Amino acid sequence: MSETYTTEGRGQLYGDITRTVGDTPCVRLNRIAPDHVEVYVKVESFNPLSSVKDRLALNIIEMAERSGKLKPGQTVVEATSGNTGIGLAMVCAARGYPLVITMADSFSIERRRLMRFLGAKVVLTPRAEKGIGMYRKARQLAADNDWFFAAQFESEANADIHEATTGREIVADFSGSRLDYWVTGYGTGGTVTGVARVLRRERPDCKIILSEPHNAALVGSGTEQARNDDGSPDGSHPAWEPHLIQGWTPDFIPLVLQEGIDQNGFDEVRPVDAQDGMAWAQRLAREEGILTGVSGGSTVATAMEVAEQAEAGSVLLVMLPDTGERYLSTPLFEAIPAEMTPEEQALADS
Ligand SMILES: Cc1ncc(COP(=O)(O)O)c(C=O)c1O
Repeated sequence: MSETYTTEGRGQLYGDITRTVGDTPCVRLNRIAPDHVEVYVKVESFNPLSSVKDRLALNIIEMAERSGKLKPGQTVVEATSGNTGIGLAMVCAARGYPLVITMADSFSIERRRLMRFLGAKVVLTPRAEKGIGMYRKARQLAADNDWFFAAQFESEANADIHEATTGREIVADFSGSRLDYWVTGYGTGGTVTGVARVLRRERPDCKIILSEPHNAALVGSGTEQARNDDGSPDGSHPAWEPHLIQGWTPDFIPLVLQEGIDQNGFDEVRPVDAQDGMAWAQRLAREEGILTGVSGGSTVATAMEVAEQAEAGSVLLVMLPDTGERYLSTPLFEAIPAEMTPEEQALADS
């Protein structure tokens, strides 16, 4: 059984695809950032299945293997807005575990088909039941069938792996350099909770900026999440409304995020409009050649507001959780034609 994976000192020969998770690059923005600051993006699409969630997917399986909670060949079940499911599908395929995913039917078609292509079964739950509906369905399937519930919203494997890899990578990449702001959004809260532990310890001057949809500003509202005795969310948070930033801000405050709020705090919580996020994702693609999804664009939108007000010479790092290719059927690509434009047609005819 494998040890906890690390991203240090690897060559380019790998025992299996899961060994390529992590160690993603931080890339400077040269054309869209204000001149008085430096902005870097951490490009999580360099992970094998193109999102930050590959990290947590691998760690959940490896921790469960080590503890004996996951038996050889046992079915894994998880509730996900897609990227965790895609990451788990990769890990389960490589290790021989059947995988069942529950996902609200509002998330992109690409996500469903990718998971099925990787061999997973995808059980769709009605969007009216929101995130909590897919979460309850996964718990029920695990209990009824004696399956292993991956439980990304509450598992310690989640924030722990971001502390051990994402956070460590950032500290290593910016050692000897300024790092004034780190900007991220949240889904489960694993990224922010885990990285914040490292930054608070090793880069205490770095401000942690948390972004969330303006129409689902759960943390910013200051209203507590109602919980059951076991800590699981007891219904939707009152500040939540459906939003266009897939992977961000479910209709409840996950336990993993709650831990981050309680332990590390954040320096600022900023609301963002998904339309601005999509516009920034497009600029990132056209002016920097960097392809990211709506959550990445929204994190950049937030970072650009912070950058405008930051003192000269400040250095910002922005998380880009996944790739734009996961959104071809969504509003992000709505204005991108599949057929030739008149200009292209004229070239074809010339
Ligand atoms: C597209 C996207 N962005 C951001 C996140 C947030 O990451 P985390 O769950 O670590 O908070 C997720 C997680 O599901 C995601 O799928």
